Amino acid sequence: TVVAVIMVGGPTKGTRFRPLSFNIPKPLFPLAGQPMVHHPISACRKIPNLARIYLIGFYEEREFALYVSSISNELKIPVSYLKEDKPHGSAGGLYNFKDLIMEEDPSHIFLLNCDVCCSFPLPQMLDAHKKHGGMGTILVVKVSPESASEFGELVADPVTHELLHYTEKPETFVSDLINCGVYIFTPDIFTAIEGVSSNWKERANLRRVSSFEAMAPDSRSHTEKYVRLDQDILSPLAGKKQLYIHETLDFWEQIKTPGMSIRCSALYLSQFRHTAPHLLANGDGIKKAYISGDVYIHPSAKVNPSAKIGPGVSISANARIGAGARLINCIVLDDVEIKENAVVLHAIVGWKSSIGRWARVQGHGDYNAKLGVTILGESVAVEDEVVVINSIVLPNKTLNVGVQDEIIL
Ligand code: GDD
Repeated sequence: TVVAVIMVGGPTKGTRFRPLSFNIPKPLFPLAGQPMVHHPISACRKIPNLARIYLIGFYEEREFALYVSSISNELKIPVSYLKEDKPHGSAGGLYNFKDLIMEEDPSHIFLLNCDVCCSFPLPQMLDAHKKHGGMGTILVVKVSPESASEFGELVADPVTHELLHYTEKPETFVSDLINCGVYIFTPDIFTAIEGVSSNWKERANLRRVSSFEAMAPDSRSHTEKYVRLDQDILSPLAGKKQLYIHETLDFWEQIKTPGMSIRCSALYLSQFRHTAPHLLANGDGIKKAYISGDVYIHPSAKVNPSAKIGPGVSISANARIGAGARLINCIVLDDVEIKENAVVLHAIVGWKSSIGRWARVQGHGDYNAKLGVTILGESVAVEDEVVVINSIVLPNKTLNVGVQDEIIL
């Protein structure tokens, strides 16, 4: 059998995702109308002999309870949330639940970061891994040389696909081939993690007798159980015929900021065209609004037939979109009201917010910039005719004058 583990992190990890992470754990923030973590989970359906999916994180159990029970029913595969008492790192977190995971006696374990957006070519990775052998195969992608340093950069043998060299977020350029945060391992991964933590216990003992402080400065504050998959496992195992790569030529993005969630929502919407066309609004159903490109509209949302929606728009439950409104590349969350002739472009409109008549809420669409989009937190009111550009507005604010390039606290 095979099991899949999705690392969801915890509340301290979502700080760049503010103000949206005030209301909801980042892994449950909707992209294309589905919780972020839903996309890797639904990709797991294609794994042959999948016994179970685990989400591992340090959010409270109750935050995930509803979602895991409904998705288990929907997929007919058990999905459970496992809570760490504290962060153990991306490999330590996995190791923490070793006994539980090994109860399924898996031959292979998929490990996925929840904050990446891609097509998750999991069956292809399994096939590639079986060809390569070794302990694990890493999904990799080519990115621009300028952005590579935000990720784990790696070098692989072009013929055997063996991972030869790995450095996490290096300061000087190594390679434009980067780690996607999607892996398949044999259970030997647990032995490798064990090796790292026992090594550290020895080092810690050594520190007590000598002044060993200059070594591994960033591991000093951690217990021996804090193990990072990238620095502590992948780097030292490179070039040892243990790790191999599988390159994806499909889309891949990392979702660290609200701006990137707008882009990733649109990417998943266009993927729905192939994987879940029934989720896309097509304009001739009950909605009757003018739909352009890939759009998700929750069945409970009310969209005036003269509104024009799309492309890249996702509208959540109970939202009301007025006559003549224009929405492009945006995420509209639950209970939002967008009044007549308002424009929303490159923006996220937070829960229960309202946008007045002829108002504009927009960004320039630079999804990586801090202020390249507009984000309205929960219960923000933008009054009639007010223009909000490239700004972040914290919850419960009322805007009665225009703002640009500002963070409204
Ligand atoms: N449960 C749990 N416990 N999850 C954790 C912990 C932990 O202690 N620490 C991190 N995670 C989760 C995060 O939520 C995320 O899904 C994943 O593990 C990786 O997070 P980080 O370790 O913070 O790394 P990163 O996201 O900056 O970079 C990693 O992913 C990139 C791809 O998105 C690295 O592996 C990069 O090399 C890689 O390019």
